[in-house]
Amino acid sequence: MLGVCYYPEHWPESWWAEDARRMRALGLTHVRIAEFAWVRIEPAAGVFDWGWLDRAVATLGAAGLKVVMCTPTATPPKRLIDAHPDILPVDPATGRTRGFGSRRHTDFSSPVWFAQAMRISTAVAARYGDNPHVVGWQTDNELCCHDTALSASPAALHGFRDWLRGHYADIAALNTAWGNVFWSMDYRDFDAIELPVGAVTETSPAHRMAWRRYASDAVVRFHAEMVAIIRAHAPGRWVTHNFIPMPETGVDNHALAAPLDFAAYDNYPLGRTDLAMADAPAADFRPWLRTGHPDLQAILFDQTRGLTGRPFWVMEQQPGPVNWAHHNPRPAPGMVRLWSWEAFAHGAAVVSYFRWRQVPFAQEQMHAGLLRPDSSEAEAWPEIVQLAGELTAIDLPEPTIAPVAMIVDIEAQWLSDIERQGAGYDYNAIVAQYYGAVRGLGLDVDFVAPGADLSGYALVLAPALAMPGPEVVAQLRDTPALVVIGPRSGAKTHDVTIPDGLPPGPLRALLPLRVLAVETLRGDCPGEIRLGDDDFASHSWRESIDPGDCTVLATYEDGTPALLRHGRAHYLATLTDDGFLAALLTGLCVEAGIAVTPVAGGLRLRRRGALCFAINYGDAAVLAPAPEAAVFVLGGRTVGPRDLSIWREPAQ
Ligand code: GAL
Repeated sequence: MLGVCYYPEHWPESWWAEDARRMRALGLTHVRIAEFAWVRIEPAAGVFDWGWLDRAVATLGAAGLKVVMCTPTATPPKRLIDAHPDILPVDPATGRTRGFGSRRHTDFSSPVWFAQAMRISTAVAARYGDNPHVVGWQTDNELCCHDTALSASPAALHGFRDWLRGHYADIAALNTAWGNVFWSMDYRDFDAIELPVGAVTETSPAHRMAWRRYASDAVVRFHAEMVAIIRAHAPGRWVTHNFIPMPETGVDNHALAAPLDFAAYDNYPLGRTDLAMADAPAADFRPWLRTGHPDLQAILFDQTRGLTGRPFWVMEQQPGPVNWAHHNPRPAPGMVRLWSWEAFAHGAAVVSYFRWRQVPFAQEQMHAGLLRPDSSEAEAWPEIVQLAGELTAIDLPEPTIAPVAMIVDIEAQWLSDIERQGAGYDYNAIVAQYYGAVRGLGLDVDFVAPGADLSGYALVLAPALAMPGPEVVAQLRDTPALVVIGPRSGAKTHDVTIPDGLPPGPLRALLPLRVLAVETLRGDCPGEIRLGDDDFASHSWRESIDPGDCTVLATYEDGTPALLRHGRAHYLATLTDDGFLAALLTGLCVEAGIAVTPVAGGLRLRRRGALCFAINYGDAAVLAPAPEAAVFVLGGRTVGPRDLSIWREPAQ
């Protein structure tokens, strides 16, 4: 199914019915509204103007569209800020209050903000909870976008102190846990603790980790309360949220998603690729300038699906140039359709475009819509006509589990920020590298949180599991799957200290080895790692290992262990080049009985139930690696440039 993001408050009411008619005629079924409409819903404190929104919902519903209603908490109005300036967040980097005039000018720690956000959410939920046209709800909009998870406000300081009191109970226990004897940092009581900002040099890593945990909990609490309010007023309706990826929220997205029916994602391939590849050589970037990098959408679709393990939505899909990257190119012809199909391949239930009509005023006037500001059809329109027709002809099965699970962990991500140790160590880049290696073998990946059920997977990857809890350790020890654990795993305790018995700490239950030393190198000055007869690069992060009872499978240039195995578990003690990961994973797939289909260039494969999708980001036709007996339901054996083929896998 397809949808669109619509802002009735931006357009004359006389346009709404015709807009709704055209949406239906295009084949759209869902329309998301009202996430930024607070000032028009409540123009004066406590004075609600529901009339226009009632009529908008009725007009869209009368045209046959299903409405997704939002809580408007991403944009509290000026009068509210004037009345309660302590709603505003404080920038941790500068100590300056972040002001009104854009959006997300709110502080998750502010009790006044919490009360106001829940008050407006209650009002909207009570008004539309049982509206027959409102089929589901989106909470807020892109929580924590624009770096808003952390605030250095007085409210955050008080909240943090209370949180610490709740977690450590006794100040002596906190001093010991954090190692505050170092640099005379012992505190006399919880109210003496500051936020870890503005100090002369590095603050304690335990202090910063605690602050991240506190901030994450505050966002999770805020969101859970909002979901509870919607559920109380909207029985039988689903609730979702349009997430930005965990590296950007900086909070535990798994916890944030826990109260939701499913997760949604906002997909902006060209903007994201422009930012992600800003420092890449032009020759590497140019092939993806108008398509986006072929792994970048997929990894975020898979991560979004992994938040709840259920089909997800693309709540916002880029339909043309955006306005917020360094450069904002037009998509190559065919890409809006291809990105949409790719989302369905990865388990989307709905793809919804942002936005219906390009707005001629304010901040996003350079951002494309499905219509131009003069209401003429913009470039993506014919692609959506085509896609809508194709979708009616194909039944999409429920997504099935992938052969490979990858464990992603917010605490490892935080550790990578807090104590980087080497410029080349970046948690998110490491996850992306492992993901790319698996996808390069033509395989699907499920992302799971630490502690999630691992049954059914043949291969489990934990590229960086820095601070594993007892649950995930037991699961990794007991799973019948082959396991690969990357460097810096088990490297720290809960309070960011080196574990007794050395790393990998509790993971020694499955890998009885010891990390004796760590060195970090410039990425362009690698050492070597030898696997069988082949040499590869070992770079950026290298550990020296006492192998204990483990078998050594690969060595550094000096013959010391770099890859070890014990039972079904592997410990890779270094970051490597892509070639090494491909060789290692290919061998493990053979052992695990996973059939691989190596793909290169712009081709990617993805299965959904019995359907197999070959998605071609490249500018030349390629052959789909489909079995002889495959029955094509879209396209054929030759996959055109920026096109796809879908076939039904023959029954085994
Ligand atoms: C999204 C956001 C939308 C709009 C869009 C522009 O991140 O949710 O409100 O700003 O970006 O690309």
